[in-house]
Amino acid sequence: MRKTIAIVTGGGDCPGLNAVIRGVVRTAIGRHDWRVIGIEDGFEGLIGKPRWRELTLASVRGILQRGGTILGTSNRGNPFSFPVQHEGRTEMVDISSQVVDNFRGLGADVLIAVGGDGTLKIAQSLYQLGLPVVGVPKTIDNDLRATDITFGYQTAVAIVTEALDRLHSTAESHQRAMVVEVMGRDAGWIAIESGIAGSADVILIPEIPYDIKRICQAVEKRRNSGSRFSIIVVAEGAAAIDGQKVEQQQAENNFGVARLGGIGHLVADQLTTCLDMETRVVILGHLQRGGTPTPFDRILASRFGVRAVELIAAEKFGRMVALKGQQVTDVAISQAVAQLNRVDPEGELVLTAEALGISFGR
Ligand code: F6P
Repeated sequence: MRKTIAIVTGGGDCPGLNAVIRGVVRTAIGRHDWRVIGIEDGFEGLIGKPRWRELTLASVRGILQRGGTILGTSNRGNPFSFPVQHEGRTEMVDISSQVVDNFRGLGADVLIAVGGDGTLKIAQSLYQLGLPVVGVPKTIDNDLRATDITFGYQTAVAIVTEALDRLHSTAESHQRAMVVEVMGRDAGWIAIESGIAGSADVILIPEIPYDIKRICQAVEKRRNSGSRFSIIVVAEGAAAIDGQKVEQQQAENNFGVARLGGIGHLVADQLTTCLDMETRVVILGHLQRGGTPTPFDRILASRFGVRAVELIAAEKFGRMVALKGQQVTDVAISQAVAQLNRVDPEGELVLTAEALGISFGR
């Protein structure tokens, strides 16, 4: 039977999404002679009047190296908890049946959902409602336990590492402590790997609550040994031993997910209480998610796209593609959304960094 596959990209964008779309389209059309349609702007494209487009071989030409997603994305369209206005108030309503009806109305047989934790949870719930779904994991934070690595993550590490390389010369010239805030809500992968690669002196991650006094001691020790500047990498989700994650916007005002940000300035302020040193703060923010994916991420994303189509051919629904060791394989989406992949505070990576003289503020 000639199938019609619908593909949706949900949640925050990340480099490599277009490589997945291209992999899906090329395999579905080229190998199986199926049809592919792209849902626009995440699940929002299946709410109200459906927004979608036909994906042909021509429409995915030249997108492998492009960042972002040609389909658009959104982290606002959770059909199981959708904000609607009722008598002047906002109420969260389950409109998933509308999404299912719209999906069926498009004549689609299967949905490929590409996204992080939030998108995959929606995909799993749609699967439980009877929709044939296949998942592709995506997050630059690399915080999904069910896959060894997600695409987009290596690109982010490369971007931060380059920034750290560049910040070294200006920090050294001015003998400053440079605090660099990077992404990583619940997991400090970007901070720790870019920190090691970019020769940071202090790395603060969500998994290891920091003591500001220990950071000051580390910077002081460096100064006493002749290095009069320090580079401090802080994951946005890091917190002091007696503190909390710093939020720019609370969950209730941001579609149920707090917007993090500001820990860099807090650490810089705290440093001035125990250190006589000029500090500056750099927030890399969405730079880490923009632009062209690294070759590794293009390849991984392409492998995921191809495998997602092959899962459909094998009628393995409710599954998510994943990388285990060197092999692309698949796991239950329900298992994928159950656990986070976090840095082990006593693991080899942290111990290696400490052996190199990097402080975690503990
Ligand atoms: O989950 C990926 C991520 O990049 C987080 O590190 C960050 O907190 C969040 O997305 C930012 O999302 P937004 O694009 O909504 O600001």
